[in-house]
Amino acid sequence: MSTVQLVPELHAFLDRPGQLFIGGSWQDARSGERFEVENPAEQRVISDVAQAGSADVDDAVAAARAAFEGPWRQYSPARRGGLLLRLADLMEAEAEGLAQLITLENGKPLGMARGEVASAVSIMRYFAGWPTKIEGSTLPVSPASGHPMLNYTLREPVGVCALIVPWNFPLNMCVWKLGPVLATGCTAVLKPAEQTPLIAIRLVQLIEAAGVPPGVVNLITGQGQRVGAPLAEHPDVDKIAFTGSTQVGKLIAQAATGNMKKVSLELGGKSPNIILADADVKRAAKGAADGIFYNQGQVCTAASRLYVHQSLLDDVLDELRRHATAHVVGPGLDPASTLGPLVSQRQLDTVSGYLQRGLADGAELICGGQRPAHLERGHFIEPSVFLDRQERSCVAREEIFGPVLTVMSWSEPEELVARANDSPYGLAAGLWTNDLRAAHQLAAQLKAGSVWINCWNVVDPASPFGGYKQSGWGREMSKHVIDAYTETKSVFVDLA
Ligand code: NAI
Ligand code: MG
Repeated sequence: MSTVQLVPELHAFLDRPGQLFIGGSWQDARSGERFEVENPAEQRVISDVAQAGSADVDDAVAAARAAFEGPWRQYSPARRGGLLLRLADLMEAEAEGLAQLITLENGKPLGMARGEVASAVSIMRYFAGWPTKIEGSTLPVSPASGHPMLNYTLREPVGVCALIVPWNFPLNMCVWKLGPVLATGCTAVLKPAEQTPLIAIRLVQLIEAAGVPPGVVNLITGQGQRVGAPLAEHPDVDKIAFTGSTQVGKLIAQAATGNMKKVSLELGGKSPNIILADADVKRAAKGAADGIFYNQGQVCTAASRLYVHQSLLDDVLDELRRHATAHVVGPGLDPASTLGPLVSQRQLDTVSGYLQRGLADGAELICGGQRPAHLERGHFIEPSVFLDRQERSCVAREEIFGPVLTVMSWSEPEELVARANDSPYGLAAGLWTNDLRAAHQLAAQLKAGSVWINCWNVVDPASPFGGYKQSGWGREMSKHVIDAYTETKSVFVDLA
């Protein structure tokens, strides 16, 4: 097994204990508590980080409030855009170190982590273009008074934003939210997942280096209940943006009602991927395998339910078995690995539990289902494929968040849409076909925020991303996210 050499600066970074960043200063938690960060491939502690509590949350929110009411308000749009561009440049200059840090604490193969960094840089650049393009409008009002009246709208930053993010794309999830915060002139308290605080710390160091003023971005690390919950309840937070489980999303929505925070939620999924009878079997099966195994299946849009036309079932299963067994499961820093460990022991326990319960529920295991025998340590699991003829097993119905695909077959087009839509979730859906009419008709009928035709997991900052049903509230990326971080003010001027 070979290992990529870490960039030298990374050792120094890991040796320095991680701190909170509040009002422009790096500091320990008021309680002095800390928690450990693990490398999931080796199950070895790589660093330790401040465990914040509600007193630190109060400090961070106060700093974000002071910055919001302070000189940050006077930054011109062009100046905010310039900060975002400088930040993107700093991230790009350090791309390899950032990617290695992602792999160290999340586990994903280094090539995937490099892709995440490249995407994060391009998203920052996309948002750098927004500050100078956030416009109000003038409206043709007809007042009862008959007076000539000017009415116009202003788009203003919503205020202090709490950003609570997960561990699966630990850099990108920060950037998806910080991009619009900085573009609109909001301020933020960022709370990364407890499994992956290090990349957030490094990102915030770069934000500081880019010249973003003190208090505009604050960072508090720690467990969800101890840090995320008080942040969601905090009466001086104006907006909360959350990505994570539907279960916690519901708690956050409830907590937000205290002061009627604006809420954006990106939650779970159990996304249907449909192969039509005319599809190119090899291409569709490759897309289906990549759609579920990418990022070890720890993706909210994972293509976890595959509906294959009956006539293609055997061929598709053969192809899926071939793709699954071709994966090289191993540490993310080994250049040969194509599938890394799951992020934590808890996530491995969850996925292993599903593998057992899926069998007990009557699903047939086509391949995988075991911990790889050649790896002694690390939270590894084989890429796995089930066939479920009844479509009633837990692996056909529930979000697993691991490299586990459940295949169903279909033959009645009338039933297909109902089956695909029969889920509490509605994040993504896909189809594989060369039939133009069928493709667009199905795309219109699927209840999902993203529909991918002959592709999967294509995400672009210019295009909205988000979920129907219990997959969330609101959209990220694109002009939709700018709306989510701004208030609209209507101004009437009586010109009589
Ligand atoms: P989670 O939803 O508990 O964690 C996500 C973030 O929320 C983390 O920063 C966490 O510290 C924070 N958090 C946890 N409890 C909180 C609370 N009571 N108040 C405020 N913030 C809180 O997800 P977890 O436990 O890491 O994973 C469990 C399952 O959630 C996964 O198996 C997967 O099904 C789903 N998940 C979905 C994600 C997505 O991208 N939609 C990302 C991560 C997990
Ligand atoms: Mg949780």
